[in-house]
Amino acid sequence: MAERIVLNTDIRKGKIDRNIYGHFAEHLGRCIYEGIWVGEDSPIPNTKGIRNDVVEALKEMKIPVLRWPGGCFADEYHWKDGIGPSEERKRMINTHWGGAVENNHFGTHEFMLLCAMLECEPYINGNVGSGTVQEMSEWVEYLTFNGVSPMAELRQKNGQEEAWSVTYFGVGNENWGCGGNMRPEYYADLYRQYQTYVRNYGDNKIHRIACGANADDYNWTEVLMREATRFMDSLTLHYYTLPTSDWANKGAATGYGTDEYFNTLKKALFMDELVTRHSVIMDKYDPEKRVGLIVDEWGTWYDVEPGTNPGFLYQQNTIRDALVAGLTLNIFHKHSDRVRMANIAQTVNVLQAVILTEGEKMLLTPTYHVFNMYKVHQDAELLELTVDSPVYSYEGVEIPEVSASASVTAEGVIHVSLCNLNHAAPAVLPLELRGLAGQSATVSGTTLAGASIDAHNTFEQPEAVKPQAFNAFKLEGDTLTVELPPMSVTVLAITPK
Ligand code: AHR
Repeated sequence: MAERIVLNTDIRKGKIDRNIYGHFAEHLGRCIYEGIWVGEDSPIPNTKGIRNDVVEALKEMKIPVLRWPGGCFADEYHWKDGIGPSEERKRMINTHWGGAVENNHFGTHEFMLLCAMLECEPYINGNVGSGTVQEMSEWVEYLTFNGVSPMAELRQKNGQEEAWSVTYFGVGNENWGCGGNMRPEYYADLYRQYQTYVRNYGDNKIHRIACGANADDYNWTEVLMREATRFMDSLTLHYYTLPTSDWANKGAATGYGTDEYFNTLKKALFMDELVTRHSVIMDKYDPEKRVGLIVDEWGTWYDVEPGTNPGFLYQQNTIRDALVAGLTLNIFHKHSDRVRMANIAQTVNVLQAVILTEGEKMLLTPTYHVFNMYKVHQDAELLELTVDSPVYSYEGVEIPEVSASASVTAEGVIHVSLCNLNHAAPAVLPLELRGLAGQSATVSGTTLAGASIDAHNTFEQPEAVKPQAFNAFKLEGDTLTVELPPMSVTVLAITPK
């Protein structure tokens, strides 16, 4: 088969929900504290305690939705600990994550302020594992009820007169594991019960999210869909990419060899199979595709940086992570009929973060640049595209060298995102532009490439990996021949004229 990409510019396949570009911030390590929240008295420039530099960077990237407060922390979090005068809030140990002191200074009001500053949707994850139905129900009342009620009065006493608008609400997290070690049958029943009291107040309509499977636990999806489809708006899926198969020795975030580089990308590509197979089960119970699949935890997970708290999950981020981000977002686009949201873990200083901080310093990771380059796809129409990819092989194992996706904006600009996974060779292949009906086009591009297999940004060299103008293409008739650098993520803008 000829190696090529065929793009049907006139075949639209539905909207790519902007929420696929969502993020996740947990009370874990230095994500919330230091990474987002520094407190009003900090010398780091902030607005009501929230870092200005981080907010600006996330806004630039057009963060659409932010999930909080966990993760595993969600099923240990009691929201009333995080409201009222901050000096009176409980101090406690975050037993799950590194034994850090949790002073509860970042709570509901601070999270809602953060989302307002980011102009993004809040996605709040409630506590099923160690919380009560009443506690969850009252949180929703506190957040969204405008009227006479104990929770509305408490919110007003704490300085927020008007109810907030909250759409996305998760009923538990990883209830098959840290959220209570439940069997799917048991969780399905609890989900039905808890969600009953997640009320819609006034015009606020909650999108109820049930806890879904761990990676390839297809039975979990089967049971949840069989028992609870009519009570949910979305079901989640969690999948992390590790270079090895050993959680005790996952592999380092930098300084790895070709074997771990290759294996990481191969394992990231597994997301396609996962989403496909979970979708097949969902189709059986929900052929109309009313229920969304939300991949609300995904990304790379390596050994922590040497000398850091193992419970803080702090890791560097390289061109390998950029490729994982690029190819995974391309996979989500392909499945956008079912995948309505995804939340990479975790926004700042934890796992595959888009931002790292050190005191007042902040850097943008290669993953950030991919999200920023890809933001043109948010809410755009997916276009039909097929890739007959060259093969990328390493020690007898083969994966596709090129991952690609395309969309068109309301203004008619076509964007094509292309990843060349090969660590050593450029990918040269034709991109056939079909359906332009004789129109010519102007083309421009941006690329993010790695000068070495673990190219990354440091606080000393924060711009070692950054997007550059991309000119290695030639348009002849309807064929655009591209030469993608080794280890690169490229976005082309094609404007028919
Ligand atoms: O993102 C880190 C942890 O990974 C989350 O708290 C948990 O949900 C998952 O296991």
